[in-house]
Amino acid sequence: MADTVFTLNTGAKIPALGLGTWQSAPGEVKTAVSHALKVGYKHIDAAYVYGNEDEVGGGLAEGFKSGLKREDIFVTTKLWCTFHSRVEENLDLSLKSLGLDYVDLYLMHWPVPMNPNGNHPNLPKKPDGSRDLDTEWSYTQTWKEMEKVLKTGKTKAIGVANFSVPFLEELLKEATVTPAANQIENHPYLPQQEIVDYCKEKGILITAYSPLGSTGSPLFQEKEIQEVAKKHDVSPGTVLLSYHVARGSSVIPKSVTPSRIEENMKLIKLDSEDVKSLDNISKTHPPNRFVYPAFGVNLGFPDKQ
Ligand SMILES: NC(=O)c1ccc[n+]([C@@H]2O[C@H](COP(=O)([O-])OP(=O)(O)OC[C@H]3O[C@@H](n4cnc5c(N)ncnc54)[C@H](OP(=O)(O)O)[C@@H]3O)[C@@H](O)[C@H]2O)c1
Repeated sequence: MADTVFTLNTGAKIPALGLGTWQSAPGEVKTAVSHALKVGYKHIDAAYVYGNEDEVGGGLAEGFKSGLKREDIFVTTKLWCTFHSRVEENLDLSLKSLGLDYVDLYLMHWPVPMNPNGNHPNLPKKPDGSRDLDTEWSYTQTWKEMEKVLKTGKTKAIGVANFSVPFLEELLKEATVTPAANQIENHPYLPQQEIVDYCKEKGILITAYSPLGSTGSPLFQEKEIQEVAKKHDVSPGTVLLSYHVARGSSVIPKSVTPSRIEENMKLIKLDSEDVKSLDNISKTHPPNRFVYPAFGVNLGFPDKQ
């Protein structure tokens, strides 16, 4: 099932499984990307702010050297918050590091414009220690800039990440291009069903990030997950990743460990009973976000109200 693909609202195909690269350290991520491509991954998830796109590019280059064509690989990267008013500039920086002429999908990383001239290039702070937000600029303006960049051909599709339903509603009021994808934290402790349903209705693909529960995850020990794993004679990790494909979402586990990169390709078809049992976890377990930076902004997620 690792070769499952979904169709974006642009008509392009996106592989259901991609390799995540957040917190993949320099010295590790080039090998991770090149190993993933060697064993059959066709989709790499990067971001400017991960600070490792040159190494990701090195891994891609090894894949091309071994015979893969650019059109065989789906590459996603993301616009960082301090670049909201300089979208093309940020995309150009990513393209240069990645060694590419275009990416397949460019995402607004967070709907949070930050001061482009603050005391730090990525995470500026005000003198009182709070995040230095760009209050003169809105994420809907950013979207307009992303629509312009789409026309340059430097990205084949544009999308968003970390968008709640109210933020998407606001964006769609102004948008002429509907986002192709919304990349959100997604796992049985945080199914975010309201966003999944809304995006399905609007033709926006969900990509599940932190699907394993990120580093040091407690999800592997969860009883229901272990039971579904036992039923199918697979690992809990396989169950966690297959859950998203069963829901119609793409999924981007991160690993720099060759054996895990391979292990994470073993997606299986879960039946409706399995999905129901995984859905039930959030009914007894409080919502748990592993990734929620202290931006000081209400992002509209129900579990954070
Ligand atoms: N848009 C956003 O704001 C956003 C936010 C967060 C993440 N993301 C994207 O989503 C990707 C995935 O999320 P994530 O990195 O937070 O977490 P994740 O993929 O849920 O978990 C990664 C962690 O699980 C370990 N791991 C991987 N495969 C495993 C397996 N089969 N068994 C046991 N442990 C395993 C990895 O260790 P090793 O690497 O040591 O093997 C790493 O510590 C990111 O890398 C990034 O590309 C996007």
